[in-house]
Amino acid sequence: MKAPVRVAVTGAAGQIGYALLFRIASGEMLGKDQPVILQMLELPLEKAQAALKGVMMELEDCAFPLLAGMVGTDDPEVAFKDADYALLVGAMPRGPGMERKDLLLKNAEIFTVQGKALDKVASRNVKVLVVGNPANTNAYIAMKSAPSLPAKNFTAMLRLDHNRALSQLANKAGVPVADIRKLVVWGNHSPTMYPDYRFATVDGASLKDRINDADWNANTFIPTVGKRGAAIIEARGLSSAASAANAAIDHMRDWALGSDGEWVTMGVPSDGSYGVPEGVIYGVPVITANGEYTVVKDLPIDDFSRAAMDKTLAELEEERSGVAHLL
Ligand code: NAI
Repeated sequence: MKAPVRVAVTGAAGQIGYALLFRIASGEMLGKDQPVILQMLELPLEKAQAALKGVMMELEDCAFPLLAGMVGTDDPEVAFKDADYALLVGAMPRGPGMERKDLLLKNAEIFTVQGKALDKVASRNVKVLVVGNPANTNAYIAMKSAPSLPAKNFTAMLRLDHNRALSQLANKAGVPVADIRKLVVWGNHSPTMYPDYRFATVDGASLKDRINDADWNANTFIPTVGKRGAAIIEARGLSSAASAANAAIDHMRDWALGSDGEWVTMGVPSDGSYGVPEGVIYGVPVITANGEYTVVKDLPIDDFSRAAMDKTLAELEEERSGVAHLL
């Protein structure tokens, strides 16, 4: 059996936490031969800590053979101590009457503290996935607050958007999701994201040619994927949780164990390609292997795509300038 690795999860008593922790402990994220120590962070509120305790009792009751230890805490430096993986799920939700700007600033405080704690105590190879919204900008803030860690270790979750787009495409084309390759979701995890299937294939043939419906792409597909989060809230009365946890598992599993040459979407600090300024955390296609991701480069960008990619970039730049004074 391998030596255990440390997996930190913030917001552990929240809805995504509840759908995520059990799957990590069962080996779905890092493999059925990889023991894990879960290091869970919650707010220092009595209710949050009590809920976390309950989740830990349930984890215990599962008797997962791969669960080698558990820590529950309200201190980021305890949660991130020697962490090999960190899933930053907890964030300040948007309250009634709260301005977008205030939400950004509240989260900037949280992710500055957590970035600094990661910088101080986490493994130098820690792989960080930010799920808590606004995910890309929160990841940017954590990255900037952790100057001694490699910037490439900070990523944001676009995988839920990627998976949502895959299912919409599979339904439209009448093909199994597993047969679709080379899908991309560009930009911010927000309704401005741009799901792009120009390069996608099914059995080696073009999915775009098979669908051949530009009107569906512009007026149904892109808005459906972009507004899917709101549609779930409308239907369920609660935001996506199981599907978000599932996407977090997919993201981390592929990063840790490799994507077998397939493209997957990750929000990563830009290296300047595709006209995205260096450092902006932007959804791009990557291939993962040996614990590293490599951005798929030199894809042709047509006018429609350029406009969509610039729109989502403009939103990220605006978010970044809103928090610049804190960094
Ligand atoms: P939730 O409200 O059920 O749980 C969040 C938990 O985080 C709460 O238990 C809260 O006490 C805790 N928390 C808040 N601030 C914290 C801090 N500073 N340190 C530690 N814990 C903290 O929310 P849910 O549904 O689990 O969602 C979590 C986040 O994920 C939200 O920001 C949501 O918008 C985001 N999200 C992101 C998605 C993506 O695709 N990137 C998809 C779905 C949700």
